[in-house]
Amino acid sequence: VTSSDLLVVGGGVIGLASAWAAARSGASTTVVDPGRGEAASDVAAGMLAPVTEAHYGEEELLRLNLASAQLYPEWIADLERTSGINVGYRRSGTLLVARDADDNAALDRLFRFQTKLGLAVDRLTARGCREMEPGLSPGVRGGIFVPDDHQVDPAALTRALRAACEGAGVSFVTGRVGEVAAAPDGLRVALEDARGLTAARVVIAAGARSGDVAASVVPLPVRPVKGQLLRLRARGQGLPIDRNLRGLDVYLVPRADGTLIVGATVEEMSYDRAPTAGAVHDLLRRAYELVPGTAELEFDSVAVGWRPGTPDNAPLIGRAALDGVFVATGHFRNGILLAPATARAVATWVESGEVPDDVAPFSPLREKRVAGVPR
Ligand code: GLY
Repeated sequence: VTSSDLLVVGGGVIGLASAWAAARSGASTTVVDPGRGEAASDVAAGMLAPVTEAHYGEEELLRLNLASAQLYPEWIADLERTSGINVGYRRSGTLLVARDADDNAALDRLFRFQTKLGLAVDRLTARGCREMEPGLSPGVRGGIFVPDDHQVDPAALTRALRAACEGAGVSFVTGRVGEVAAAPDGLRVALEDARGLTAARVVIAAGARSGDVAASVVPLPVRPVKGQLLRLRARGQGLPIDRNLRGLDVYLVPRADGTLIVGATVEEMSYDRAPTAGAVHDLLRRAYELVPGTAELEFDSVAVGWRPGTPDNAPLIGRAALDGVFVATGHFRNGILLAPATARAVATWVESGEVPDDVAPFSPLREKRVAGVPR
């Protein structure tokens, strides 16, 4: 029987970042993960986009997203120093562009909303956009430059976090957690293959699967939201864009290694994992409409994953109904961005039992509508 101060359920970026932070504050920490490559982090594009993912009516989430973006430079520097792994943190900003007049009218409204919130944004003419990215289609009508929305490579980030965890003494167990329940000496974590682990505290960071794991604690309202992305590759001449590019229904993320990520679908398809012809067609067409040069790239692959979605699109971060259990899931489209803020919340809770103010609005118990009715 493995017994730890802290057991983290889930080895994606949220689980690993939480485990690293907890281990560094002195807790003996174990991560349990099925190891089946199902983490949303494995397919995430890695846009750190508090501004370009800001939506009407989600101002509280925007504050947390911005706070986490601010933690990024130091968090990454520390992680790269500790792990010796470069995680592809590129601070090149994001250009949001309008494909036609309707899109441009939508960007006018978005720009007013962003300006009202005091966000750093520049409204650009069509010519201004093309000066920044000469590969843009002549049809592009205008844009918004967001200097502080950056990118990281989630696969490299995962490797670095895993190395940092190992360096900090975190143990890893392969398995899928079925149940977390109170036991006389703390918490008992039952794996589906009948093995059992014990821990003083548990963090549930199992992404889209968190609802299954937490069933006996509180039924977390997390569901899988299917996303399909394409990976294209430069051939000889490099990529046709230099910085993150977004249209209203597509995004393109150029990586330093010559890969261009084109994403993403947002589909209510439960645990379906099939790449579909329709998604490939739509994503290629949208990418081509903004950047015709994408047609010259090599088609590498389609990636499919499940974002952990919640009823109000906001994460579930905070104490669960069962004593000693902390929830860190439901990050939907912003899990990579929210990793440092979530890890900080976990470390604070491990050290003091308290939950930092910036995550307080995201308690998994915030509303019956959200948290469900405890069984
Ligand atoms: N944050 C991008 C996505 O969820 O597709």
